[in-house]
Amino acid sequence: MTALLAIDVQRLQGEIDALAAISEVPAPAVTRVLFSKRDLEARAWVRGKCAELGLTIRTDAVGNMFARWEGTEPDLPAIATGSHIDAIPNAGRYDGVVGVLGVLEAFRALKTAGFTPRRSLELIVFTAEEPTRFGLGCLGSRLMSGTLASGAAAKLNDSKKISLADWLQRMDWSKSDLASVRLEPGAYRAFVELHIEQGPLLEREGVAIGVVEKIAAPSAFRLQLEGSGGHAGAVLMPDRRDAFMGAAEIALALEKAALASGSPDTVATAGHVRVEPNAINSIPFRVLMEVDLRDTNLAARDKVLRQIRAEAETICARRKLGLAFEPINADPPAIAGAELVDSTLRHARAAGLSARRMISRAYHDSLFMAMICPVTMIFIPCRGGVSHRPDEYSSPEQVASGVEVLARTLRDWSEHLA
Ligand code: GLV
Ligand code: MN
Ligand code: MN
Repeated sequence: MTALLAIDVQRLQGEIDALAAISEVPAPAVTRVLFSKRDLEARAWVRGKCAELGLTIRTDAVGNMFARWEGTEPDLPAIATGSHIDAIPNAGRYDGVVGVLGVLEAFRALKTAGFTPRRSLELIVFTAEEPTRFGLGCLGSRLMSGTLASGAAAKLNDSKKISLADWLQRMDWSKSDLASVRLEPGAYRAFVELHIEQGPLLEREGVAIGVVEKIAAPSAFRLQLEGSGGHAGAVLMPDRRDAFMGAAEIALALEKAALASGSPDTVATAGHVRVEPNAINSIPFRVLMEVDLRDTNLAARDKVLRQIRAEAETICARRKLGLAFEPINADPPAIAGAELVDSTLRHARAAGLSARRMISRAYHDSLFMAMICPVTMIFIPCRGGVSHRPDEYSSPEQVASGVEVLARTLRDWSEHLA
């Protein structure tokens, strides 16, 4: 075991709590939706923290923020690290935030230890990892990797039909072209993201650190069913074309297909349903349903995707319902850099921490950074595996352990990665 770095647990917890207070809802819940007043305030607060550390800050056309600690060989591709500070409605205070504020604490601890980077170290605060406003997650890193074209991004609409292009104009962020967000493969030498596990394994096994070797492949699609409305008392059952009953049948078929996919990692969720007119005594004439479908095994996921699309068509034809199917995204899984995983595991163990390899079942900006450079992630336990809820919790010591591993990893990669 090598000497621990000077991670200031209290200071870091104080900052996590201060950022949590910048929220659209009262504590303990945190909501910070892209472009909300609180999102902008939180961005400015983090920017101020980066400036205090003397980092060189730039922001791109979609609001991704880059804060660079210049190395002694500034022309070498930098080591990047970071996460997001947007939060879904009624979230907790750790998702994303630990991978942003943890980096600042890691930089401070490395400075205190007298370290100067060789390859530059760059914190990236990604725009909108969460899909809340535009229904599409990882907006910033998707554009960076070229997975989302700038023209398609500009046309994304929020629920009030305000497009990303309109928002950027309102924010006065539209001076540079969205296409300029794109980074070439090799723009960074490596990327590492510190994050809470959002699952129960580390806590259950009493392991301090998870090092991610694979991120499951996410996909999502939207179904719109059109039936015919009417009086809930007056229209007899054989005469109905109830859009919600069709959606309910599709949802059950989805569950069945996911359970029977042959892969234990297939997960399917019909998490967003909008019923019109949404009144107890009126037959639903239209339903919008958004489905999230993931697997570590791309072939198994895509088999379920094809199957559910075919079943939705059969169900709607039988029920005489109109059906529109719209893919939202269908991303591949990410495989971490083997060299980075081994090195991160070594650093965890050198810090006296137990560590294991793991799969990330949630998606992260790392999924898209993997198209630019080798990546891995450092996971810390969270209580009960709970996330996306106000009671999301990791102890200050668990967070500090993650920061210790992050700092050691950044120091090593900056000095030694060829
Ligand atoms: C990210 O928040 C996800 O849904 O995996
Ligand atoms: Mn999240
Ligand atoms: Mn996250």
